[in-house]
Amino acid sequence: MRMYDLIKKKRDGGSLTKGEIDFIVEGFTSGQIPDYQMAALAMAIYFRGMDREETLNLTLAMAASGDMLDLSGVPGIKVDKHSTGGVADTTTLVLAPLVASCGVPVAKLSGRGLGHTGGTVDKLEAVPGFRAEISTEEFITNLKRYGIAVAAQSAEITPADRKLYALRDVTATVDSIPLIASSVMSKKIAAGADAIVLDVKVGRGAFMKDLAAARELARAMVDIGAAAGRATVAYITGMDQPLGLAIGNGLEMAEAIQVLKGSGSRDLVALCLELGSVMLVLGGRAKDKEEARQRLEDALYGGAALEKFRELIIAQGGDGRVVDDPSLLPRARYQEAWVAEGDVYLAFLPADKLGEIAMKLGAGREKKGDPIDPAVGIVLGGKVGDLIRKGQPVATVFANDREKLKQALAELKGCIVLSPDPVTPPPLVLEEIRG
Ligand code: URA
Ligand code: CA
Repeated sequence: MRMYDLIKKKRDGGSLTKGEIDFIVEGFTSGQIPDYQMAALAMAIYFRGMDREETLNLTLAMAASGDMLDLSGVPGIKVDKHSTGGVADTTTLVLAPLVASCGVPVAKLSGRGLGHTGGTVDKLEAVPGFRAEISTEEFITNLKRYGIAVAAQSAEITPADRKLYALRDVTATVDSIPLIASSVMSKKIAAGADAIVLDVKVGRGAFMKDLAAARELARAMVDIGAAAGRATVAYITGMDQPLGLAIGNGLEMAEAIQVLKGSGSRDLVALCLELGSVMLVLGGRAKDKEEARQRLEDALYGGAALEKFRELIIAQGGDGRVVDDPSLLPRARYQEAWVAEGDVYLAFLPADKLGEIAMKLGAGREKKGDPIDPAVGIVLGGKVGDLIRKGQPVATVFANDREKLKQALAELKGCIVLSPDPVTPPPLVLEEIRG
């Protein structure tokens, strides 16, 4: 088999066989197939697409390219959750302990943030002492003992995807649905969970800018999950505006704690209850979504979810006192609010712009490996449709540099739109897609 012939086959619109895809993934992972040939193939796939079988075979080959976690020794149906990435998306921090406190083991390998979207691992590392880089052994031990483990994905898992994603990133071939679907699902399959709940974000702050594309991606991932024997459900949720109110790692951690204490952003709570109810049903802990929702609300408002979160933090070396006292989280030197000059409604909160402003404050990475500042970011005064009373903050900036603070405030004023008239809030959960 020659890589040249396989590139040509795909370029001309052919379908690659399982044997051909295995050859490509193995050769690329080991270094026998050079980057320039793989880049050409990625571009051919970008234009020609891949059918269901090819997408499945690519996923399985990438999943098998490195270590695969064996969670069979952990009792219960293990459920994983994945978001395609958004702004102020603190869902995992709330959902993982919430669902675990209801008896479903949550095994979550997570990435670091890139660009204007944050990563769960970065948010957890805002807690003093928290270790996200734990070994597979520790991950499984914690999962058995506490029913929850959240760790940074190691380099030994799906090396083929890691290499291919880096290549796609610099060759304008990221936004291809079969390549995204196989990339995400290869990691989920290698991570070993029995069931998977996907949150596919759509809107200006997300990968997928329109509903049709989001639906296609969700369908592709649900099909892969089903074919790979992992019950998979996908939700399509809005990401034109940030999900929660806080953007920035320590600030988002504080917001997650607030939600786990039974208050906090309405949309964040609503999404956690929706995704969580499916996780409980898939995990065999509730017969239907209604029963699941009741159990989740009991855990959220009764304090069990918060205690599970404390357990997670302590189990991975973090200071569990942050749960009672969020002021132990890193604090920015400067803080300034943009205050409403009269009663106004929030009309437009562009997630992409707000994510970029937070990134420039130091909350995110422009490129892989950049350091981040856990203390800085933005806290919004509300979500689209909310009324901000005169003298109340539209948004507050947290910074460690006065110039950056001034810049951020000016940019916020340039992109957030206020209205004297009531504004209808956009829907949050748009669709549910099942196998
Ligand atoms: N996230 C991934 O993990 N892979 C992609 O290809 C795109 C987003
Ligand atoms: Ca994420």
